[in-house]
Amino acid sequence: MCRPTYFTVSYEINPWMHPSVPTDTAKAVAQWQELYDTYVRLGHRIELIDPLEGLPDMVYAANGALVSDGVVYTAKFTYPERMAEGPAYAEWFAERGYRVHTAAETNEGEGDILTVGDLVLAGTGFRTSTAAHKELQEVIGKPVISLTLVDPRFYHLDTALMVLSDTEIAYYPAAFSDGSRRVLERLFPDAVIATEDDAVVLGLNGVSDGRHVIHNPRATHLAAALAERGFEPIGIDTSELLKGGGGAKCCTLELRAAVDAAEVPSA
Ligand code: ARG
Repeated sequence: MCRPTYFTVSYEINPWMHPSVPTDTAKAVAQWQELYDTYVRLGHRIELIDPLEGLPDMVYAANGALVSDGVVYTAKFTYPERMAEGPAYAEWFAERGYRVHTAAETNEGEGDILTVGDLVLAGTGFRTSTAAHKELQEVIGKPVISLTLVDPRFYHLDTALMVLSDTEIAYYPAAFSDGSRRVLERLFPDAVIATEDDAVVLGLNGVSDGRHVIHNPRATHLAAALAERGFEPIGIDTSELLKGGGGAKCCTLELRAAVDAAEVPSA
């Protein structure tokens, strides 16, 4: 995770961002802290990357890379405003002993690349390219399923689809192309289907540990549907970070098979 020390909305690269609407950085930090504290309370280990001045979107750590079995596929951002974040995250991983593969193709890390058990679901249409999906499959050796996003409000896969466990997902069908919707129906016939009301508060931008699901408390239908499935929904208000177009999941990059710092030989 990355503390939103320098969070603001100074440019516009998605429909949620309005530089004319004031942001409250202290409030963003407090909301982020609550998310952090909740993870800790649930027993999860959190690593931090230092925020860099001039990179207000760096708080959205999910975009910084994709980690699969300890292998890091670096982000290569679409917009120049975020370009410098890719190398910053890559350096963090390299320093900690991860095997880092530098991506040649445009991709925004776990914002568009979600792991469901042995499958990887990859979004395209707004940010991550299909060439990146192919490159990623070669790097990690897992099947990468391309899904096309069609609604600019849901510009990253993690705004339209949430992974609940190694076999379960929730998603908002209207965010996907016809064909991609059919792929999702085929692969996940029992998926939780989010309503438009859930989706437009970025309710799907949540994080599940297989039991607890951290989500936007305004996604009430989704929370009820998750509880009915036996999950424990935990609402965390990240309204200030929503002004940049992100929620809990955007703020969280999962270290899939984290390299234990104790095992890394010092230089
Ligand atoms: N302002 C950021 C952007 O448009 C928000 C990124 C949100 N992150 C995410 N994983 N969906 O790039």
